Amino acid sequence: MTTIIDGNAIGDRIRSELEGEVERLHDAGVIPGLATVLMSDDPASETYVSMKQRACENIGINGIHREIEPDAPEDALFDELDDLNADPSVHGILVQMPVPDQVDTDAVLEYVDPAKDVDGFHPANVGRLVAGRARFKPATPHGVQRLLQASDVETEGADVVIVGRSDIVGKPMANLLIQKGPLGNATVTVCHSRTKDLAAKTKQADIVIVAVGYPGIVDGSMLRDGVVVIDVGVNRVEANNERGYKLVGDVDFESAKEKASAITPVPGGVGPMTITMLLWNTVKAAGHLEDIEIELP
Ligand SMILES: NC(=O)c1ccc[n+]([C@@H]2O[C@H](COP(=O)([O-])OP(=O)(O)OC[C@H]3O[C@@H](n4cnc5c(N)ncnc54)[C@H](OP(=O)(O)O)[C@@H]3O)[C@@H](O)[C@H]2O)c1
Repeated sequence: MTTIIDGNAIGDRIRSELEGEVERLHDAGVIPGLATVLMSDDPASETYVSMKQRACENIGINGIHREIEPDAPEDALFDELDDLNADPSVHGILVQMPVPDQVDTDAVLEYVDPAKDVDGFHPANVGRLVAGRARFKPATPHGVQRLLQASDVETEGADVVIVGRSDIVGKPMANLLIQKGPLGNATVTVCHSRTKDLAAKTKQADIVIVAVGYPGIVDGSMLRDGVVVIDVGVNRVEANNERGYKLVGDVDFESAKEKASAITPVPGGVGPMTITMLLWNTVKAAGHLEDIEIELP
């Protein structure tokens, strides 16, 4: 029997735990605040930002939203970040990526106050993560860790193959899983576009985590029996429905399910966890900045 890992249910459970921590902040007179900054008119980016804002409101976090014209100069974004960095009611800041071409992405990531960098992408926070002293674990890989934990999948001693080495998923995922301690202690192989014989690597794995952005890059023929499969990919493919498209992952779900002991679906797997862990980081940031003890690792 293959377990379908339900990211919605696991995310809901973690959110209700978070509500308790938010209440503790409210009792101390603090309303945690998350600022989202959008410098784009891409409908997908607009949707992501509004989903994050709605999720904030649902658990008592104050959502602050700022929009900057996509053709504005780079300084318009930095001025906004100056305000948000200095604003004591803002505990977390998230700049929705991608930003337009005239804006230097690396400079933006470095401009956000590291204490408010709830994405965990500032080099100071990346360094802390690698050193095993993470302040903010990036939301998607942290969400994957929590999915594995909630599904009783042991990472200690497991052979994990990660397909994809992006700064937001693959690299932090590998760094989290090789850390000493709970949710870590794995032996990790990271694959990418230059990897020779991907299937030879994935077939060895106890856990396969795929974050590429290409539907069906991993299928059942590339997996061994009993593997745990985590599909991070989200891809739009044409479909005969009202919207004209549907969302699929990077893994060929049907053939992978035949081999897997547990697998995440798309949608409804990793996606809901990403927003949940962003809320987690915002609550943590508020606790830190306001010097209130919060029970979140
Ligand atoms: N569910 C969520 O919350 C969530 C969050 C973030 C991302 N995602 C989704 O996850 C997917 C990946 O996102 P990302 O931002 O990590 O993507 P990305 O920055 O485009 O990175 C893709 C990675 O895949 C590798 N790759 C490309 N072709 C490959 C191949 N043939 N074999 C092996 N590896 C290959 C690339 O290798 P190179 O480095 O060599 O180019 C790169 O490391 C996307 O579908 C995205 O929408 C979902």
